[in-house]
Amino acid sequence: MVKSIVVCVIILLFLVGFGKIRETKLRTEEHDASLKKLYAKDFYIGAAVNDGVILGKNTQALQILKKEFNTISPENVMKWQEIHPSPNSFNFEMADKYVALGKKNNMHIVGHTLLWHSQIGSWMNSVKDSAVMANYIKEHITTVAERYKGKIDSWDVVNEALNEDGALRESVFLKVMGERYLEYAFKIAEKADPSAELYYNDYNMWKPKKREGAIQLIENLQKNGVKIHGVGMQGHWGLTEPSLEEVETSIIAYSKLGIKVAITELDITVLPNPWELEGAEISQNFENSDEMNPYPDVLPDSVEVQLANRYRDIFKLFLKHSDKIDRVTFWGVNDKSSWLNNWPIKKRTNYPLLFDRDYKTKKAYHVVTGLKTN
Ligand code: G3I
Repeated sequence: MVKSIVVCVIILLFLVGFGKIRETKLRTEEHDASLKKLYAKDFYIGAAVNDGVILGKNTQALQILKKEFNTISPENVMKWQEIHPSPNSFNFEMADKYVALGKKNNMHIVGHTLLWHSQIGSWMNSVKDSAVMANYIKEHITTVAERYKGKIDSWDVVNEALNEDGALRESVFLKVMGERYLEYAFKIAEKADPSAELYYNDYNMWKPKKREGAIQLIENLQKNGVKIHGVGMQGHWGLTEPSLEEVETSIIAYSKLGIKVAITELDITVLPNPWELEGAEISQNFENSDEMNPYPDVLPDSVEVQLANRYRDIFKLFLKHSDKIDRVTFWGVNDKSSWLNNWPIKKRTNYPLLFDRDYKTKKAYHVVTGLKTN
């Protein structure tokens, strides 16, 4: 009798002990788990970083960056206006710090962006002569891409060159140089840094007309022997738009061109936008209207769940096409740093990313990691 009680007690102690070890192991695994570890076999996963992170001032965001991500993109510090503010001056201070951050943490470093009609050196908008424009573009791209030769893994060489209907945007580059500016930019970038992958990057690349335009743009480059390694689909999406069928159609169509696909600027707005309002005149001032800023203090759990479900569906699609997708980059580390708090309306409270304003993981984070652990 005594013997059987002793045996039972030993078994009970063993089970309790085993349970505690398992619980600790699970907790440790959960603590050690990270987006980059879970998605290591699928694609790079990263975030755009701002000055606060690059300068190490935002220690909480930096901590998330190091733990969760293996690729970084510069939200603003490598744009023409920041690096090349006037015809005869370059300022690489912040761009150097950005690249150093990526190297120090052994990350896949993205360069964004060599040629974009927005945030361009202001003097460029008054250039009228094709040869002069070509010289400025050559000087900019060569100076920047040579400086980071062998350090930048992938350049957004040209950003947002298309209209929504797929035609080429009437940028100052197109007006002055004609469409040859595209080929010109890519060739100069390849010469300046043959080791970097060269991308075309744009938004709404899921729209059928824009998809056709992007395919035309890429095929024209390829036809002329221009090196292009990939296409960036920016990923500034909403809770219901775009349809994932259109996104999938684009991923497949771009991949068929023999190039990589990157989701370069992923964020999911949970706020209404003026143009979604029936008959809304976008120039109408929506500042501070409750209707356009419905969650100023906290995101209702129902919307938190909607966001999590949307990220779940999106990452399921990305995993289905991980053979085509090289990288998924969130456009910011946490909700507080998102550009979407100030666009298209300033001073709103948006909740587009996986980490909240207190740098805590959101339901969306756990759903995205859950796709790899469950
Ligand atoms: O640095 C100045 C600061 O000195 C000044 O006090 C302040 C006054 O408003 O402006 C600051 O510059 C702002 C900059 O972000 C840095 O915060 C610019 O005004 C503002 O226009 C700029 O917005 C950026 C926007 O691109 C335009 O460049 C956003 O942060 C950035 O998230 C956004 O990112 C773009 C991608 O590069 C391309 N794809 C679309 C995406 C969203 O527009």
